[in-house]
Amino acid sequence: METVLKVDNLTKIYSGPEGEKIKALNDISFEVPRGMIFGLLGPNGAGKTTTIKSICGLVQPDAGSISVMGRDVRRQRARALTQLAAVLEGNRNIYWRLTPRENLEFFAAIRGRRPGSVKKEISQLLQVFGLEEKAREPVRKLSRGMQQKLALAVTLITGAPILLLDEPTLGLDVTASYEIRGLLRRIVQEEQRTIIISTHDMNVVQDICQQVVIINEGRIVAHDSIQHLMDLFQVRSYDLAVGKLTSEQRQSLEKLPHLQLVPINSGWQISLDLENPTLLWQALDILGQEQTAIESISRKELNFEKVFIEILGGGQA
Ligand SMILES: Nc1ncnc2c1ncn2[C@@H]1O[C@H](COP(=O)(O)OP(=O)(O)OP(=O)(O)O)[C@@H](O)[C@H]1O
Ligand SMILES: [Mg+2]
Repeated sequence: METVLKVDNLTKIYSGPEGEKIKALNDISFEVPRGMIFGLLGPNGAGKTTTIKSICGLVQPDAGSISVMGRDVRRQRARALTQLAAVLEGNRNIYWRLTPRENLEFFAAIRGRRPGSVKKEISQLLQVFGLEEKAREPVRKLSRGMQQKLALAVTLITGAPILLLDEPTLGLDVTASYEIRGLLRRIVQEEQRTIIISTHDMNVVQDICQQVVIINEGRIVAHDSIQHLMDLFQVRSYDLAVGKLTSEQRQSLEKLPHLQLVPINSGWQISLDLENPTLLWQALDILGQEQTAIESISRKELNFEKVFIEILGGGQA
């Protein structure tokens, strides 16, 4: 698979207010293949924005290198940067005095796209992002969510093959967040563009990212596909919904380790974890003594948020 972005041994040290050294990035390396949505994850202060700004050439790293479609961001800056478009934190990439349409026209023009050829695309973007009604209002009068959508539309109109999006769904309502996810998926599938996205919304990650790197305190703690991470952390926990239990049955069940008993409408829910291979047999024996009805057995759902917390060490608490 073609690699469109290569980050090699990147280190960034900022100076704090008292001259102290803040190691925002500590020797990170990763590669992004073409045509996928790649997540850049980590808690606040992990180094995500620093990574994105380094890729865009806005932050000068202290060590390491970055290449965009084979071009070094430091040595072949202009040629590397024309391949990129970015939405940075706080959507500063749009002009507040211009209207949405003017913003789109301006950013298409500075990327050398001819007005005639982008007219239709601009109308489509305004429509898809629900900005048609506001197409002639100055951007400063738009709501935060609308500004966020326009910031994203502006990256699309540049025609750049790689999009860097720093928290693009922050502050968007649920419907808008879903719309944008659909749109990003479509861009990647139909146009073979590559999206690198940082977000704290694990639903977004689970929904649209194929691969992720997880950064913590400036270091990479995971670099893998979402599917593989989900498989790795798949807890083998099951929920059994059962009918009425006698007090003896309840006492026996409560004595078993790694098993929880919770009352539900029709009887009881038994949650157990299959780490101990004999546990299920023991539980079934106790149920069998009174021929207690088993209404359902289901595997516990795992979501990416839980995986993320486990990777960051929160699962041990
Ligand atoms: N201009 C700066 N000067 C000094 N320190 C900085 C600067 N920018 C970032 N930092 C520090 O670098 C570290 C990484 O910050 P960064 O903004 O990259 O984190 P982040 O992962 O984007 O966090 P968040 O999820 O909160 O956006 C933090 O400790 C931050 O305080
Ligand atoms: Mg950030």
